[in-house]
Amino acid sequence: MTNHVVIIGSINIDNTLHVARLPQPGETIAMTGFSQAPGGKGANQAVASARSGAATTFVGRVGDDNNGWLMIEKLKKEGIDVRHVVTSHTLPTGQAYILLQESGQNSIIIDHGANYQVMPEDVAAAAEPIKAASFVITECETPIPAAAAAFQQAKQAGVRTILNPAPANQRLTPELLTHTDIIVPNETESGALTGVPITDAASLQANAAYFRDRGVGIVIITLGEKGAYVATPDRAQLMPAFSVQAVDTTGAGDAFIGALASELQPNLSNLTSAVQYAQRASSLAVQGLGAIPSLPHRQAVLAAAQENE
Ligand code: RIB
Ligand code: NA
Repeated sequence: MTNHVVIIGSINIDNTLHVARLPQPGETIAMTGFSQAPGGKGANQAVASARSGAATTFVGRVGDDNNGWLMIEKLKKEGIDVRHVVTSHTLPTGQAYILLQESGQNSIIIDHGANYQVMPEDVAAAAEPIKAASFVITECETPIPAAAAAFQQAKQAGVRTILNPAPANQRLTPELLTHTDIIVPNETESGALTGVPITDAASLQANAAYFRDRGVGIVIITLGEKGAYVATPDRAQLMPAFSVQAVDTTGAGDAFIGALASELQPNLSNLTSAVQYAQRASSLAVQGLGAIPSLPHRQAVLAAAQENE
């Protein structure tokens, strides 16, 4: 059965400045290149989900501008249902300014724009697809009240929820956490939210316990090249990453989450193999430039898995 994935999230145009390394305070450096690509955590997750084969619906906002129009067309071309993408008339489409280092690591500055106008009313308008979903995903580039409304509706209908608490600058309400089946932060975000920096096995356990104590079912902390830490009520395991040469890690977590939501059975019975699939998808995404342009289709993920057997 094909999953139906609903994403409440952000849409951005990514402006990437290529640099050898980050400048120090007071220092001026030259960029070595510039590129633009469609992005935004929500849009990345939606495209990752659609390319993995899930029927995907997007709830979000763009500005009444060229970037917004381009992004809606882009999502449509991916087969994503964009009927619940609202055009805001007072703020422009979101943009991200990304410093991409030679190492493939990125630092991001966001201009939220229309993304911060996503409201509970937008979510209410998408009640039908939310009720019919296998998974509802949200992240934190859109306001928490919209996320909370989405998860409340999902839980009322018995639908599974995935929270990507990124960026980690908004306070997660207790209610949002109790309505979260699976939380997927990266190690920096997890440390910021729990107050326990991740440095070793004990701090990983403490981070997972923090979320689980607040009602989250499954905790998946992505650790970049170190893999993913997966904690369920019965056990915890560190799943090693596939080792690849990273060109651009922008959207690696989004690639993971979208692929996971497409691959995972709603009864969560194939969690380990779905996480592995998501890791494979993410490892392919980091080998290409730009967030959305580098997201793999399902056939590519399966082919990569066979090559490595
Ligand atoms: O997670 C990566 C994304 O974060 C980028 O595409 C950028 O738009 C920022 O939202
Ligand atoms: Na990439």
